[in-house]
Amino acid sequence: MPAVDAQRHLLGLDGMDRSRLVSLLERARSFDDGTGRATRGGEHAELLRGQNVCNLFFEDSTRTRVSFSLAATNLGAGVIDLTAPGSSVTKGETIIDTANVVEATGGDALVIRSSAPGAAQSVARHVGVPVINAGDGAHEHPTQGLLDIYALASALGRADAFELSGRTVASVGDSISSRVARSDFFGMITRGARGMCVGPPTLAPPALRAMGCAVSSDLDAVLGEADAVQMLRLQFERHGGSGERVPPGVGSLREYRALYSLTSERAASMKPGAFVMHPGPVNRGLELDGAVADGGRSIILKQVSAGVLVRMAVLAELLG
Ligand code: NCD
Repeated sequence: MPAVDAQRHLLGLDGMDRSRLVSLLERARSFDDGTGRATRGGEHAELLRGQNVCNLFFEDSTRTRVSFSLAATNLGAGVIDLTAPGSSVTKGETIIDTANVVEATGGDALVIRSSAPGAAQSVARHVGVPVINAGDGAHEHPTQGLLDIYALASALGRADAFELSGRTVASVGDSISSRVARSDFFGMITRGARGMCVGPPTLAPPALRAMGCAVSSDLDAVLGEADAVQMLRLQFERHGGSGERVPPGVGSLREYRALYSLTSERAASMKPGAFVMHPGPVNRGLELDGAVADGGRSIILKQVSAGVLVRMAVLAELLG
């Protein structure tokens, strides 16, 4: 099996060197119009003219798929957008064969989302064009990790060097199922942050310390330490079994909410100036209150805007 040249692709933030990470964030900043959104027009609008970016999304997505498409369009590239329903995957074709077909038709970069950990890496072994991991099971979601660093560093006034030393970032909830939590920690710890996973022991088990973060099951005890909390969705589809709505080890959703939801009362006990984040999709009233999602501490929509910038940076790096 051919080895994968990690520099030609974006497969994960685990092991990514600091210089590549910072250079991607700096490039994202060069596309920022000063409000956190992408500048319209300008020199970069023709950067990828004549190239085609292909989204191959075998799992549902709103913000990741839309922002990859917009990022490609902003750089002048064409976009091909394939989802599992409507593709020959439903007729039994494999992801690798699908990727080879899309490359053969003229795709210059493949953006892959799949429920299978390692899917993007496998595709990268079999195609000759850059592959970007847009989420592979519970493994990694590297552009989400980048956009979270971008949005948080910007909110903290640290977008000069995207440096997070002295700051504690807590992922709250279903960290064990979360590719977002993993990519966030790999990236944020590289930028100097202290990471913390908070949740019921079945969803934030002590084994997550291996990722380099502290682990707690007592949100009220540790919330005051956080400079930012990333509230995670309960990822029922990754819990396996019968599709039952209550995650393993959690008595009931009511109990979960009582212990781990970021309610307005809890948010009021956060440090002054601490931020609320969420990778989306948000389940209002479960992992956090609607008033908190829309409140003054929330940078949830800043994260979404940063997603376009970092995806532009990744496409520019790999194809420009
Ligand atoms: C996340 C994902 O799909 O990994 N969303 C996203 O891409 N912004 C998080 C989730 O599904 O809960």
